[in-house]
Amino acid sequence: MTGPTTSPLEPVLEARGLRKQYGPLVAVDDVDLTVGPGEVVGLVGKNGAGKSSLIKVLTGAVQPDAGEVLLAGEPVHLRGPAEARRRGVGFVHQELNLVEQASIAENIALGGGLPRRAGLLVSWGALHQRAQTLMEAVDIGHLDPRTRVATLTPVQKRQVMIAAALWHPPTVLVLDEPTASLSEHEVVVLHGIVRRLKSRGTSVLYVSHRLDEVIGLTDRVVVMRDGAVVDSEETTRLDKGRLVAMITGSAGQDRPTHLRQDPGAEIVLDVHEVSSDRMVEPVSLQVRAGEVLGLAGLVGSGRTELLRAIFGADSRRTGEVRVGGEVVGCSPSASLRSGIALLSEDRLHGGLVTGFTINRNITFASLARFRHARWLPLPSGRRERDRSRDLSADLAVKAESVDAPVMSLSGGNQQKVLLARWLSTEPRVLLLDEPTLGIDIEAKTEIYHLLHRLAGEGFALVVVSSEFPELELLCSRALVLREGRVVAELEGADVTETALLHHCFDGAGSPA
Ligand SMILES: Nc1ncnc2c1ncn2[C@@H]1O[C@H](COP(=O)(O)OP(=O)(O)OP(=O)(O)O)[C@@H](O)[C@H]1O
Ligand SMILES: [Mg+2]
Repeated sequence: MTGPTTSPLEPVLEARGLRKQYGPLVAVDDVDLTVGPGEVVGLVGKNGAGKSSLIKVLTGAVQPDAGEVLLAGEPVHLRGPAEARRRGVGFVHQELNLVEQASIAENIALGGGLPRRAGLLVSWGALHQRAQTLMEAVDIGHLDPRTRVATLTPVQKRQVMIAAALWHPPTVLVLDEPTASLSEHEVVVLHGIVRRLKSRGTSVLYVSHRLDEVIGLTDRVVVMRDGAVVDSEETTRLDKGRLVAMITGSAGQDRPTHLRQDPGAEIVLDVHEVSSDRMVEPVSLQVRAGEVLGLAGLVGSGRTELLRAIFGADSRRTGEVRVGGEVVGCSPSASLRSGIALLSEDRLHGGLVTGFTINRNITFASLARFRHARWLPLPSGRRERDRSRDLSADLAVKAESVDAPVMSLSGGNQQKVLLARWLSTEPRVLLLDEPTLGIDIEAKTEIYHLLHRLAGEGFALVVVSSEFPELELLCSRALVLREGRVVAELEGADVTETALLHHCFDGAGSPA
């Protein structure tokens, strides 16, 4: 250890010798951790390091196998999340788990129990009033508490979840990757909320893979590796390079170099005047073999809609999509047959089959390839597993074996399994929506190398990312979308973070 592992004042939250084991795997290994009053502690580590597991134990969602949790110096036995909240431990877990069809107010009250009149009837007036106050605390005071959650943007949903965590005023708020799916602008909103809580004396334990925000937001950083806390340091003594080294346990990383594009390469993907009911105006674009085309824009600028339209995910599409000159029908299955694959942004709703193993999740979209023979429409288990093993190894999926249930993986590793699934279909065109969402710094670099390797093999790639440095690193060309329209095209060395930001905001006024 190089720095202090404890804060100077009596901690509000403390873990002593915490341990959680899943079968042979030790997810949380003898962890000591403290969070001081008003302190913002960053919790970082690679995918599968044990961050979410530790948080689940600290917030009563999972019982530890050994060790204890202390609140304000007192050992407590948290029987469940409701008890943790009552005792002042607020939390928002990594995956959004809101009731989409219920109102904002109802979702907020799920955190605390509905206010009842005479112990029986729900007092809606009181509920809405209470919800409104909490909504103001998280910057969504302008919304009506009766609004259905399904109609909200991702950042608003995150804000609702934080409001729910504030129902019982927390002494410590635990946030597991709250900004993973947010764009740069929305991240700023979230940081504002955290800073305000801190200024009122609330402590925060904050998990993130975005190292800039860890440095900008926290007072102290705790690093986990293989279930254990391996380092802890005051943030003022850290810079990004040092933090990366602490997380990966190695000195440096080789960054991929800029892709050079062959202007004469074959046009693999040809999108002509494509539009869907969700798009504002038709878009045309072409992607050559070996090219990585970036789509930049703020959340809501139409990037996901464009990818979905190209893939034929929304049944009503106008215009034409061609792969290698052949017209592609407007449906996901026609797209897959023609060699287009789409990695969607929302891994739980857009992809993972939660009851299946890692193996089956990987081969799910390409089972036909593993038939024993053309005339025998049964997959060969051996060939299927060989393929999943190869792909998992390629993407460094952290798992005991490919036969483990996919839901036993950490968030970032689930994302890698989805990427493996689409690679297994051997596409020529890969459409990737936020491909490194929730993926740690080391695995990100692995994925960048992989995407460049695929480009080198003649794939055509289209990448949507809210992280502009990622687009700068990955893309040979980028389109900027604003309010559903393509407003700029950048090429080669002109694809920079600064230029992308400039075009996203330029003339757009202040994004709401
Ligand atoms: N319910 C479970 N059953 C079996 N293994 C589990 C379970 N939950 C977590 N694990 C394992 O525990 C380890 C730690 O996972 P955890 O989700 O805590 O990682 P993490 O640090 O949050 O990673 P990420 O950054 O990807 O979210 C992983 O190897 C994961 O596969
Ligand atoms: Mg996690």
